Amino acid sequence: MKFLILFLIMIPSLTFAAPPQEKYADLPGQIPVAEGKKLYQENGCPLCHGDQGKGDGSLAAGQTVTPRNFKEYEEMKRMPTIRMEQAIKNGIEGTAMPAFSQFSDSQVNALTNYLRSFLVESYVDLKMCAFQTYHVDAKILKQPFRVEADEPKKYNVEVSGTTISLSRKNKTLPATQKMHRTHFRVMQNDRMASVISVKIKRCKKEVDDMLKSIIPDKT
Ligand code: HEC
Repeated sequence: MKFLILFLIMIPSLTFAAPPQEKYADLPGQIPVAEGKKLYQENGCPLCHGDQGKGDGSLAAGQTVTPRNFKEYEEMKRMPTIRMEQAIKNGIEGTAMPAFSQFSDSQVNALTNYLRSFLVESYVDLKMCAFQTYHVDAKILKQPFRVEADEPKKYNVEVSGTTISLSRKNKTLPATQKMHRTHFRVMQNDRMASVISVKIKRCKKEVDDMLKSIIPDKT
């Protein structure tokens, strides 16, 4: 009897340990660019990457690995922010990209923001578990907009008022896949107003932890 009471008392804290089904965020406003632009111009980035980030700087032509076009969606969506940060801090071996290890984290952040702004005015990086739904409020966008999923077969997008709801059709990831990254484009007429980058995890650990605390390990 004592154990039963103890168990009943524990239930609320167990359910609390599970990650929520729904997540919420606001679509951020315009990417801040002033500091990043200054750093970009003062540190020779345009020599290779070009003034407009098109990869057409005066030193670009002769390189074996030429700088990519930061204005191209197909190029940029395959570039998570962490990868840009590492490229700036450590350089990229086998290419002309030098390491800028003197920059502080906030300077590197200002630079990645500026590089993003070549493509879009607004950008957001989100993380969710495969079973969750993310509601992103895009009230900062005044005109009507539509949202396009890069992988419409795998992801649902619903727009209701200014809220964009994103979810995965299959609520888990394949056992072999730890995480998956996908993108949603917020379009106004034919202009890409914003990119929502979502990193999806299985969240197996959270679910396992919860199960473990309910069913104690006998070994
Ligand atoms: C001497 C030429 C050169 C200069 C100067 C240079 N880069 Fe690069 N950069 C490259 C090349 C080449 C690549 C590899 C090709 C690519 O990914 O665009 C690269 C790649 C990158 C990438 C990562 C792309 C990826 O593939 O992950 C970022 C971010 C970047 N550069 C930012 C900067 C910034 C910011 C500056 C200035 C502070 C700068 N670069 C200066 C040549 C240069």
